[in-house]
Order: sequence, then structure tokens, then C-alpha cells
Amino acid sequence: MIRRRDLRRISRGLRFRLTASYALFFTVLLIGVSFLFRYQLDKALLTEEKGAVSEQWAAMKGYLRIESEHETDTEQRAYWYYDDSDEEEKTIVLDIRKIYLVADSNGKVILDKDDQQAYSGYYKDIFDSPANIRTRVAKATSKPQPFWDTRWGEDGEQYLIRSGVVWDQKHRLPYYVSLGMPLSSHTKILRGFSWIFVGVIPVGLVLGGILGWFMAGRALTPVKDVALAAQRISGSNLRLRIPTREAGDELDYLILTFNRMIERLESSFQQMKQFSTDVSHELRTPITAIRGQLEVALFTAKTTEQYREAMFNALQDIDRLSQIVRALLLLSQAESGQLALQKSRLNLREVAVDLVDQFQIPAEAAGVRLEADLPDECFVEGDRVQIERMITNLLSNALKFTPAGGEVRLRVVSTPERVEMVIEDTGRGISTEHLPHIFDRFYRVPGSGTAPNPEQGLGLGLSFVAWIVKAHHGKIEVDSVPGKGSRFTITLPAAGVGSDTMELAGQPAGRS
Ligand SMILES: Nc1ncnc2c1ncn2[C@@H]1O[C@H](COP(=O)(O)OP(=O)(O)OP(=O)(O)O)[C@@H](O)[C@H]1O
Ligand SMILES: [Mg+2]
Repeated sequence: MIRRRDLRRISRGLRFRLTASYALFFTVLLIGVSFLFRYQLDKALLTEEKGAVSEQWAAMKGYLRIESEHETDTEQRAYWYYDDSDEEEKTIVLDIRKIYLVADSNGKVILDKDDQQAYSGYYKDIFDSPANIRTRVAKATSKPQPFWDTRWGEDGEQYLIRSGVVWDQKHRLPYYVSLGMPLSSHTKILRGFSWIFVGVIPVGLVLGGILGWFMAGRALTPVKDVALAAQRISGSNLRLRIPTREAGDELDYLILTFNRMIERLESSFQQMKQFSTDVSHELRTPITAIRGQLEVALFTAKTTEQYREAMFNALQDIDRLSQIVRALLLLSQAESGQLALQKSRLNLREVAVDLVDQFQIPAEAAGVRLEADLPDECFVEGDRVQIERMITNLLSNALKFTPAGGEVRLRVVSTPERVEMVIEDTGRGISTEHLPHIFDRFYRVPGSGTAPNPEQGLGLGLSFVAWIVKAHHGKIEVDSVPGKGSRFTITLPAAGVGSDTMELAGQPAGRS
């Protein structure tokens, strides 16, 4: 037995709903079509019947005679004048005489005396009342016109009646004549037609339902396949892809989108894995060093001086450790969007001038010439702290990797739409194979080369730069020739005239 919960689940399902819509559509369509058909059939039958009655009317005018001297004359007489021996004429007249009425302009009925009895029967109530006749005669004498009516007789049949004014033999007085024709075959045809439709609609409903159920099932099968495939995908097998059906339809598009999503997931999963490997690796080195120093101190140090030295070295490594942890925390906050940017209209010139001033001393110490080439003013919408951090990172890299005698230059060019900042140096450069990785976390180009600073960096500076550029809707490009120098170009949108904003920084920094 189907449980209530199952029933509810089925009735909420897409398949059920699609089927119901099919069935509803078929029903509405069938009802609509049947009404239209019925209306047209009714109209066509009536036109045909009107034609037949009009023919009878024309014949009636030839065979019916009305005689009277005076309107009040009791001798008013209506009779049929035809050749009794002519079978054809006889049939025509007898046919007309079956249902008819002749009345004077007051509504008084005068009939051929042979027809009196028939008239007094059930046809009486389908013809007009004397009052009606009077108004109609008045109307038709001023403007000749036929009257058409359809009326239900006491016998339960419908009749088509044509009435009009016919003049007496001497053309002195108007008389009201009505000819009737039973519409029994007409009603029968219509009724039969209606019954057919009453019978067909439930069949259509059932067929529509079955067809809908079948078609919806077929259309939804691939959806189930996609769901099954998606269920099989987990963190450990992100390599799985849902095969497309090569139909090029919406579902294929869905599958494609889904696959792309898994691809992105896979790549960020991979990144995360790499990141944790890198982190543990980075943390292990100082920790091992600290342990080594403490061990050495513990087992070999004799003098206070030796202990002090060991502790000093350990402290230095601990510093590096906390530096790494701090930087990582900040970076992960930034990349997961937890770091709120305090954007405001910034004059990049001011920021750059300050920083270049600050870097003059270390530059001089390193024997590197540091120069700036800035416009009078140029505005960007940005977070001052982050923009400063970005420039600081790039300048410190440039100085770090440029040997004495070299040159570092910061250039800003601004257009109404964009601000371009270029930081170039004449340092050791980066070879093409390392270029794509320098924005990765912890990535440092192997080999100390001509770096003047023996202390190794964390390899996190450019990851920050990439994130900051992205959070400011800009892009960063690098050109570098090993041995000749590097050029970092950052393009940021120029600030429009707007108020300060606060926004959460976006997702992990992409590099351009
Ligand atoms: N101007 C440059 N010239 C040559 N190599 C560079 C330059 N800038 C960056 N690099 C290379 O890219 C690597 C990554 O730079 P990044 O700033 O991310 O790390 P870092 O400077 O080594 O360490 P941190 O900035 O975290 O102290 C550097 O180690 C260096 O090898
Ligand atoms: Mg750096």
C-alpha cells in the first residue's frame, strides 16, 4: 500500500506536476475545440434549415389564398389552391400545411378548415400570441421583413419558424403567416455530437495523463542520472565528471555547468591541499631549527654566553614563526572575505610619495637608486592600508632583488578611466618558468642569486599583492627578463566622484 508520505512526495514531484499540466492542457483544449465545433455545426445546420424554410415560404406564396371583404368579416378565408392530381404539388403543399399559421392583423387565427384540428393541437404554443402578431404586422407593413424564431414546442421539440406579412388576394389587407419546421434532426445531431465529446474528454484526459507521465519520465531520466553521478562525487574523487549526452540541450548545459563547478572545486581543493602541505613545511623548518638550537644548548652549552646565543637564535626563529602565522591568518581572512576594506577616494600620488620617501634609506643602504615619476594628482577608490601594503611589498621586492648600482623606479600614469602603476627594477629578473608561480603562497624562486638580503622572505608578499589588486577590481601584469630586471604593472579603475564605501573583500586572489 502506498503511504501518505509517499503520496505527498509523488504529488510534489516534477513528473507528477508535468503530467497534471499535460492532462489539464488536453482537457481545456478538448473542451475549447468541442465548443467551437458545436457552435459551427449549429450555425451550419441552421443556415441549411433556414434555406429549406425560405423555399417553403416561396412555395406557400403561390399556393395559399386569403380572401376577405373586410377585416372584421367573418368570411375571411384562407385556403390552399393547387392541382390535387399533381403529386409533386400535392406533396409540397401538404408539407407546408403540416405546421403553419395564418392570422389577420389583429391576431385572429384563420386557417384552412381542414387544418383547424391540427393547429389546435400542440403546434399552437410555438406560434406568436395575438398581441405579438399585431405589433409584428404593424412593423412589417411599414417596412417589409421576415421574422425568424426558434421555439420549443410542448412536445419537447425545437422548431424553426419564419413569419411575415402576406396580402390577401385583392391586396387590400395584410395577414400574418408563420411557417414552422421541426429541428428534431438538428437537435439530435448536436446532442449526439455533445455526447461524443463528453465521452472523448475523459479518454483524452486519461490519454493525456499517460502520455504526460511517459514523456515527463523520459525528460527527467537524465536529471536522475545527473543526480546519481553527483552523489558519487565526493572530496576524494573530484576527478569524476558527469558525461554529457551530446544533445546540446538545457540539460547538457546544466551538466556542463555542473562539471565546471566540480572543476573549480577540484582546483580549490588542490590549492587547499597544497597550502596545508606548504604551511606544515614552512612551519617545520623554524620548529626544527628551534629544537636543534635548544638541544645543542641543553647538551653542549656550558657558559651563560652560549645559552644566551642559543636562546637568541631560538627567539629569532620564533619571530619568524609568528610572522608566518600572522601573515597566513591575515591572508586567509582576506581571501575568505572577512577583511573589510575601508575604501575612500585616495590620492595615489600622496601615498606613493610617502612610501618612496620611507624606502630611500634602505635603498641608499643597498646602493640602489630609487626614483618616482608621479602625476600631480591621481585618484583611486581604495583602502589606504591595503594600497600601502601593496606598494610596500612591490618596492621591497624590487629593492631586495636588485644588486647595488641598480635602479628602482615607481611610475604612475593616469587616464580618466584607469590608473596605471609601474614598479620596475634592474635586478635579477625572474625566468619564464617561475613567472607563473610567483603569486602562489610560499613561492620563492629557488637560488639566492644576487639578492643582497641574505634573510629569506616568506614568499607571501605577492600573494597579498594579488589579493589587494583583485579586491580593488584591478589587474596585475609582470614582465621580466632574467639578469635585466622586472616590471610589475598594476591597473586600477580611476575613482569617480563618489562617497566612501565599505566592502568585504572578494574571493581568493586570481592573478592576471
Ligand atoms: N622584483 C623582483 N625581482 C626578482 N624576483 C622577484 C621580484 N619580485 C618577486 N620576485 C620573486 O618572486 C618571489 C615571491 O615574491 P614574494 O614577495 O611573494 O615573496 P618574498 O619576497 O620572497 O617574501 P615576502 O615578500 O613574503 O617577505 C620572490 O621570492 C622572488 O623570487
Ligand atoms: Mg616580497
